[in-house]
Amino acid sequence: MVTTRIPTTPFSDQRPGTSGLRKKVSVFQQPRYVENFIQSIFDNVKGAEGATLVIGGDGRFFNDSVVQTAIKMAAANGFGRVLVGQRGLLSTPAASCVIRKHKAIGGLVLSASHNPGGPDGDFGIKFNMSHGGPAPESFTESVFKRASAITEYKIVEGPDLDLNRIGPARAGNMVVEVIDPVADYAELMEQLIDFEKIADLFRSGFRMRFDALSAITGPYAKAILEGRLGAPEGTVVNGEPKPDFGGHHPDPNPVHAHDLMELMLGPDAPDFGAASDGDGDRNMIVARGLFVTPSDSLAILASHAHLAPGYAKGLAGVARSMPTSRAADRVARKLGINFFETPTGWKFFANLLDAGLITLCGEESAGTGSNHIREKDGLWAVLLWLNILAVTRKPADQIVREHWAAFGRDYYTRHDYEDLETAPANDLMNALREKLPTLPGRRFGGLTVQSCDDFAYHDPVDGSVTPKQGIRIHFAEDARAVFRLSGTGTSGATLRVYLERFEPSIDRHDLPTAEVLAPVVQAANEIAEIEARTGRSAPSVVT
Ligand code: G6P
Ligand code: ZN
Repeated sequence: MVTTRIPTTPFSDQRPGTSGLRKKVSVFQQPRYVENFIQSIFDNVKGAEGATLVIGGDGRFFNDSVVQTAIKMAAANGFGRVLVGQRGLLSTPAASCVIRKHKAIGGLVLSASHNPGGPDGDFGIKFNMSHGGPAPESFTESVFKRASAITEYKIVEGPDLDLNRIGPARAGNMVVEVIDPVADYAELMEQLIDFEKIADLFRSGFRMRFDALSAITGPYAKAILEGRLGAPEGTVVNGEPKPDFGGHHPDPNPVHAHDLMELMLGPDAPDFGAASDGDGDRNMIVARGLFVTPSDSLAILASHAHLAPGYAKGLAGVARSMPTSRAADRVARKLGINFFETPTGWKFFANLLDAGLITLCGEESAGTGSNHIREKDGLWAVLLWLNILAVTRKPADQIVREHWAAFGRDYYTRHDYEDLETAPANDLMNALREKLPTLPGRRFGGLTVQSCDDFAYHDPVDGSVTPKQGIRIHFAEDARAVFRLSGTGTSGATLRVYLERFEPSIDRHDLPTAEVLAPVVQAANEIAEIEARTGRSAPSVVT
């Protein structure tokens, strides 16, 4: 195969967001669009010559074609070896695991995570560093800079590789190894989680449903839950990854995973329910009759993690993203371990994990993870829950209620206003920012503003400061409202309003969330003038 240099001109919109470059499939399908972006990444990888690169994606529409392009470009850019998942598949956590285990220089992860797929859906390309986690902003900014001035890309010409067969192949001078996408990941899980105990639990008649939403976790969940842990066949539903996710919106929340919710809240609920997203890094946990918020799940995992072999020595610390509820903070305080509050975006956990300051971390957006990789990990969270259930032999809802009894309950909800026009959404945030100094002491919806700020993160490891990460309003009544604009959308703007209220009293742990949070919702709407500024009288999604 010969390397050719193809002249190109820049696209102006290749600035990676919260999690890589995410756009409509039709945008990626423009001639040279994918090539420009991948070349801009490769131009920023130091030491590519002879190094190992991992490539894989969540199997969504266009995955197969971009995998082939990426391999041919890797060969032309001097990489020594590419590890690619069979059929081009790798879940995001598996990609992180493979990068670390095989000491790769990094990896290209092809995914738009929980965004819908198919020809009219979204696609995405993200670069992960040698630690297995998403590239930091300094890297993505310099990719953007390169992409804005690119003049040529390099590719080897030749036929597509057969990625169906596991084993070695070649592209130009480069070795390509087609790997089993599940094997390395399953081996890692076995080191962290007590597989024996969970197998006993299933043998005792425990039943669960795992809804893979026709996305990437199907093969992983089938191999581990049904294959190794002995869960009955049929435990995993929607287990075949499909290019359009079978029409599912692959975001594991009560709205989009409604079939699972209906089952778990109905009379025939099994003992435990779980789901994961498009690329396998998010998780949803449902006890019988009770949805477990990701914020609660993080806190509960933190207080029980020592029951799993991988965490038996205890945790160094816990971190959560700023809009995530404060439930984990209380656990950290009780355990006497480190605690950190980071901006939204998994990449902010990497430094804390690398420095050994934390062991677990999580986000309200359904991501939970640990120091085993540098991505959040959907199936890992489910397995850690199972490990806890297997050791305690308590029903999941009892675990949650006991947690609330011990620590208090954080009622929590998120209101999303999707597809807003960008200008009024930015105006809303700017107006809110300007108003901040005037808010303390004022009353809204019956609550009194105690303090407020625009969250800035001071990274304790590298000293960097990341400003403007969301507006926080604390109310004297131990309630909080947080406002930020989504960084993962592909059209218009999405305003996220995170609402929570702490309730210490056990007599008040069984109230409807909407009722408890009604005053916080009202206060948030008044303060941000949501209806007047967006024309929306209600959010598009409430989770
Ligand atoms: C991605 C990141 C998460 C982050 C989420 C926020 O999923 O991996 O770490 O929490 O985006 O999304 P948003 O749309 O709120 O910016
Ligand atoms: Zn995801």
